[in-house]
Formats: sequence, C-alpha cells, structure tokens
Amino acid sequence: MNILGISAFYHDSSCCLLRDGKLVAAAEEERFSRRKHDAGLPVEAFRYCLRAGGLDLVDLDAVAYYESPVKKLSRQLWAGQAKGGEVDLPWLDALQVERAIGERLGWDGPLLQFDHHASHAASGYYFSGFEGAAVLTVDGVGEWATTTYGRGEGASLDLFEEVEFPHSLGLFYSAITGYLGFRVNSGEYKVMGLAPYGKPRYLAQMEELLFDGPAGQFELAMEFFDFVGGERMFTERLCELFGHPARRAEAAIESHPSADPRADPVVQGRVPGAGDRRKAALHGWGSCPQLCRQRPYSP
Ligand SMILES: [Fe+2]
Repeated sequence: MNILGISAFYHDSSCCLLRDGKLVAAAEEERFSRRKHDAGLPVEAFRYCLRAGGLDLVDLDAVAYYESPVKKLSRQLWAGQAKGGEVDLPWLDALQVERAIGERLGWDGPLLQFDHHASHAASGYYFSGFEGAAVLTVDGVGEWATTTYGRGEGASLDLFEEVEFPHSLGLFYSAITGYLGFRVNSGEYKVMGLAPYGKPRYLAQMEELLFDGPAGQFELAMEFFDFVGGERMFTERLCELFGHPARRAEAAIESHPSADPRADPVVQGRVPGAGDRRKAALHGWGSCPQLCRQRPYSP
C-alpha cells in the first residue's frame, strides 16, 4: 500500500511516501523552490516522492493530509470573531486543500485527513521503534489542540487529553521569539541556541506567564499575549513585565538587555520545568518507560 503524506499551507510544506508503513521518501518544498519555509502546495516535493518510490500517480492508494481543515476553520472563525468580526475570507475555505490537491496535483482518489496533533504523535510514535510508549505532543496550535497526552500500544495510538488554544507552549515560545526581535516560525532556533547562555534574571517574570492546572492542563496569562488580533504575538504588558520594549528586528543583539548573553541577561524562551511538568502529568496516567515527544521548540 502506497500512501503519500502532505503538509502544506502554513510553513515548511513537505511530502513523504510510505510503502506498507515504511518511509520511502520525504522532502520539503523549499529544497526545490529555494524559498525558505515555503508554505505553498508542495508540488515538487510530491513529484520527487513519487519519483523516488518509482511510482506514478495511479500507483498511490491514498493521499493523507496532516490536519483537518474543517476543524481548523472553527478556530479561525472564533479568532475572527475575537478580533472584532474581521474575517479574512480567502482563508476561511475548508475545501481549498481538497481543491488544490485535486486541481494542482491531479489526485482524485481517497484523501485522508488527520488531526494535526495525531499526525505529530504518529510521526513520533510509529517511527520510534517502541512496542508501546507514552506520547506527548507540544506545538503552537493544530485545529484547537496545542498540547496532547497519549499512549501508543502496538499499532494503536490514543490521544486521551489535550490543552486547547490559546493556551499554548509553542505560541508562548513564538511570542518570546518575537519579543526578542527574531522572526516568528523561523528564529525560534536562535532563541533555543542562546537560552543556555542566559542567567535566570527574569525567572520571576517568566513564571507569571504560565499557570499549571490539574490533569496536565495549563493556562497562559493572556493579558501578556495576543494570538489573534495584532501584528505581534504579545501585548505591551509583556514589555512592561520585563521592563524593556521589544527588540527591534535585526537590531544588534547587544542593544537589548534581555537578548544579550554578554550582559548577564536572560535569553529565555523557556519556563523552567514546564516540559518536565508535562512529562510528570503524562506519567500520572500510567507509567511507561518509553516516551515519544514531538515538539517544535523547547519550552
Ligand atoms: Fe505542528
């Protein structure tokens, strides 16, 4: 059985080809288009995977899409309302994915759609080599989920608890990335790389941003964040909390006290212990020696 997987229309569009559950090929579109983080339909990656597998379109049994456009639409509508009724109509089209795959890739066979976090969990668990494992996904946002807790046993994978948007460690991380003057969904790795050089000077402020609840739940203090309305992902309150305005993009890193490792600062896109508390919550549902984690960033 040949299944071609597609991730598209957000960032780093890509494709992979599975033959009888084995990964045959995988590629990001940016490798072909030379556009960093290319978010378009991955036409060239799609063709590459077919070529690498020695297949024609007719040899595919299904195409799988990495999230559910219909469920995502409900969040986009909610976000539009929260923004004050301004709705970006071209984006509110749950059928655009199906149409694009049909019209531009020529695929009119079965199109399987999976929840965003189920895709993350599957890519972590099914390729882990474990017979069973606890599964933790930590992301920006999928349809509504931002963090999921689950368990894999043999071929079955069950995500039994989730934290929903806007409470998100991934978006928290991106907001701090933006505050430090780096490009969101791109410069997070710089924050991650700089973080070990910082000292916990802003620890008390960081801990005002996130509150843990029972059963793996957590909440962000939303007065510091803006994930729906503004041009940036944080509010003025965040600048006041740290005592500095946001660093200007591409400004010298020394120009910002909270981003300059040499000035005894914090380059902290992390809440100490946040990841450990997620793992502890997962452990509380039943111990399992193996853990599969899927996380784009490092909160
Ligand atoms: Fe994701």
